[in-house]
Amino acid sequence: MLNYLLITLCLAHVAVCQDHNPNIVVILTDDQDVVLGGMNPMKNVHRFIGNEGTTFTNSFVTSPICCPSRASFLSGLHVHNHMTWNNSVSGGCYSRTWRKLETRTFATALKDSGYNTFYAGKYLNEYGVHATGGPEQIPPGWSEWHGLVGNSVYYNYTISNNGVPTYSPDLYLTDIIRDLSLNFIENQTESQPFLMVLAPPAPHQPFTPAPRHQGVFSNVTTVRHPNFNIAVNDKHWLLSMPPAPLPAEMIPDLDKVYRSRWESLLAVDEMVADVVEALDSNSLLTNTYLIYTSDNGYHIGQFSQVYDKRQPYETDIRVPLLIRGPKVQKNVTNDQPVLNIDLAPTIMELAGLLPPKSLDGKPINFDSLNKDFERNMLVEYYGEGRDGTVDPSCPWKYDSDNLAQCYPEYDCKCQDSKNNTFACLRHISNRINKKYCSFADSENFTEMYDIDNDPYELTNIIDKELPSVKHWYKLMLSQMITCKGYSNCDNPLQQPRIYG
Ligand SMILES: *[C@@H]1O[C@H](CO)[C@@H](O)[C@H](O)[C@H]1NC(C)=O
Ligand SMILES: *[C@@H]1O[C@H](CO)[C@@H](O)[C@H](O)[C@H]1NC(C)=O
Ligand SMILES: *[C@@H]1O[C@H](CO)[C@@H](O)[C@H](O)[C@H]1NC(C)=O
Ligand SMILES: *[C@@H]1O[C@H](CO)[C@@H](O)[C@H](O)[C@H]1NC(C)=O
Ligand SMILES: *[C@@H]1O[C@H](CO)[C@@H](O)[C@H](O)[C@H]1NC(C)=O
Ligand SMILES: *[C@@H]1O[C@H](CO)[C@@H](O)[C@H](O)[C@H]1NC(C)=O
Ligand SMILES: *[C@@H]1O[C@H](CO)[C@@H](O)[C@H](O)[C@H]1NC(C)=O
Repeated sequence: MLNYLLITLCLAHVAVCQDHNPNIVVILTDDQDVVLGGMNPMKNVHRFIGNEGTTFTNSFVTSPICCPSRASFLSGLHVHNHMTWNNSVSGGCYSRTWRKLETRTFATALKDSGYNTFYAGKYLNEYGVHATGGPEQIPPGWSEWHGLVGNSVYYNYTISNNGVPTYSPDLYLTDIIRDLSLNFIENQTESQPFLMVLAPPAPHQPFTPAPRHQGVFSNVTTVRHPNFNIAVNDKHWLLSMPPAPLPAEMIPDLDKVYRSRWESLLAVDEMVADVVEALDSNSLLTNTYLIYTSDNGYHIGQFSQVYDKRQPYETDIRVPLLIRGPKVQKNVTNDQPVLNIDLAPTIMELAGLLPPKSLDGKPINFDSLNKDFERNMLVEYYGEGRDGTVDPSCPWKYDSDNLAQCYPEYDCKCQDSKNNTFACLRHISNRINKKYCSFADSENFTEMYDIDNDPYELTNIIDKELPSVKHWYKLMLSQMITCKGYSNCDNPLQQPRIYG
């Protein structure tokens, strides 16, 4: 069956019939933003991937949080279809439900078709812990496995080396991922194509740079866009929590977080250069695709928030995406709207496979000149609340199990709440650049932004939009939130679109 499909593809697209299937290398960082300048320190990524390939300017994730976003990346499915709702096992993260879906990722597809597959670094937040089967378990799809147990850290971690847990107190994790990658590449030849996923912890909290990079950006401060540390009154409940603006004493902390994130990314940037060099010196580079992206964005101080993700704003849902490879245009930008669920079908197609129609994403269109696009992208987030995350010294005692991450060092400002649960449509065409978000809170709060006119999302235009337009977004969103499969998720109303 597979051979038949490949032959059919070959007849349809001659390019698929190249002598050797291409190699594919994905670098997936943790919490790297693009809106706040998170790509600025990545000189090698720009040089070796951006200038040699395509930089996507409209790349988004299905959810601004690690585990749900990573599950979407691996499976090509929306959150409501892979049912990894949050970062806990109870919320689906590396749960039994996920482990059934895990037999159908881009990795299993490529491995089954003859690829040698390699993973190193953070996987899903609850991988390797006792409750989900421990580090002896190797996720299907990987011939060589070096998955990090648990969430991102820089030191003092356990890696499952092909099912053998190995504890390391003092080796900087990004450098270990680099070394494992280089060893793997050393042993690759043209005779068997390979897939590699490298998932370093940077720039995730606690933002620890390699010792050689400490202080490199000591004079860098966080960006102060017009939405930096302003009080807002037209946004959902959590955003109106005090203190707003944040007290002046907190700003140096935000600057420190910003520069530490940049410093922690320098080891990733070096890793990319080393990987490219190793591919080149083993004569593998010309037949390799390199994909650089992140699991979600990040905010630092916007609208008087502290620093985190989990919000529907551009800082949190936009991610870097740069791709180079044999069939990718060089040194260009591409404005087409892309979601992280598109990567699985894209990788399958690059490997000469037909992506199943059951995936919610679609292969990326690499034609940077094509401006004839329109897409409604669904972003889902399920707010967290947990007993014990509100410090006793904080004033929010009344319903503390509905709140999360309210620490005294944040002046008790909470970073999440159960009713910070939302679904958004991110609508982009050559003429439209809007966002419509609906919150599952007691007010059914709705936010809408015209990003072209208001890139910093300073004004919620929900009361200014025409009722017919609002009605259309509401209807579209209600369909998207239960959509299934690419043709349904791409246009669930199955009717001509209201905009050209
Ligand atoms: C390493 O991690 C263990 C388990 O999480 C913890 O008990 C220990 O204090 C950590 N050690 C260091 C040096 O951080
Ligand atoms: C590379 O191949 C050599 C020879 O087959 C083998 O001894 C070595 O363990 C391999 N290294 C890795 C990292 O797989
Ligand atoms: C930071 O700025 C100060 C004052 O302008 C300067 O003296 C110092 O050399 C700078 N440090 C770095 C690492 O650039
Ligand atoms: C990439 O394009 C820019 C202008 O868009 C140009 O300045 C630069 O030299 C180009 N780089 C390469 C490697 O082609
Ligand atoms: C994660 O999701 C599950 C299932 O919806 C829920 O029971 C749990 O409370 C959530 N976790 C947090 C911390 O909110
Ligand atoms: C959101 O949840 C918090 C905590 O339970 C509650 O105090 C607040 O009233 C809720 N707001 C809305 C709009 O639902
Ligand atoms: C919110 O939406 C629900 C379901 O559509 C509805 O039953 C409820 O009355 C709405 N609440 C408010 C405050 O508008």
